[in-house]
Amino acid sequence: MSTDDAPPTLDYPTEEITLSVNGEEVTADVEPRHKLSDFLRDSQGLRGVRVGCEHGVCGACTVLLDGDAIKSCLTYAVQADGREVETVEGLAEDGTLHPIQESFHEEHALQCGFCTSGFVMATKELLDDEPDPDEEDIERGLADNICRCTGYQNIYDAVLRAADRMDGEEAEGDAGAEAEK
Ligand code: FES
Ligand code: FES
Repeated sequence: MSTDDAPPTLDYPTEEITLSVNGEEVTADVEPRHKLSDFLRDSQGLRGVRVGCEHGVCGACTVLLDGDAIKSCLTYAVQADGREVETVEGLAEDGTLHPIQESFHEEHALQCGFCTSGFVMATKELLDDEPDPDEEDIERGLADNICRCTGYQNIYDAVLRAADRMDGEEAEGDAGAEAEK
């Protein structure tokens, strides 16, 4: 065999997908086997999407797909075609942290922080569905997420603080809307 022989190349088929990522339309060619977590991190540069176990156990990779918290390591990028994806990078607006992010910060709801964006996104789904959660709701809402540092109490406190804060903001918004009438 000649040493000039080029190494064999493998051409994997790709598929074009168009989706919304944090409110922006994105079109890309992806291999059908490409995971959504890798697509978001590698193609979109969204490193807030963490990859821990890569088999659906830890919840570090949690993002919202059409508003539902999903494990992006168990989801193919092609499955997000035509849908809306929200990652932790999409929460802050104009440099202002989302109330959930502020609450996690204020309650020190993290230790190593690796799992935090997954918890924040799971909290977003939880509070969108149940704005006034009790301890049981929070336990259920965060059951798919594991903090290996076992610092759950501060995380629970942060969720309650975020719920209060978001409730207050809504109340202020309502009062403002009333005043404008
Ligand atoms: S990295 Fe997806 S659940 Fe652990
Ligand atoms: S803060 Fe969650 S794993 Fe460390």
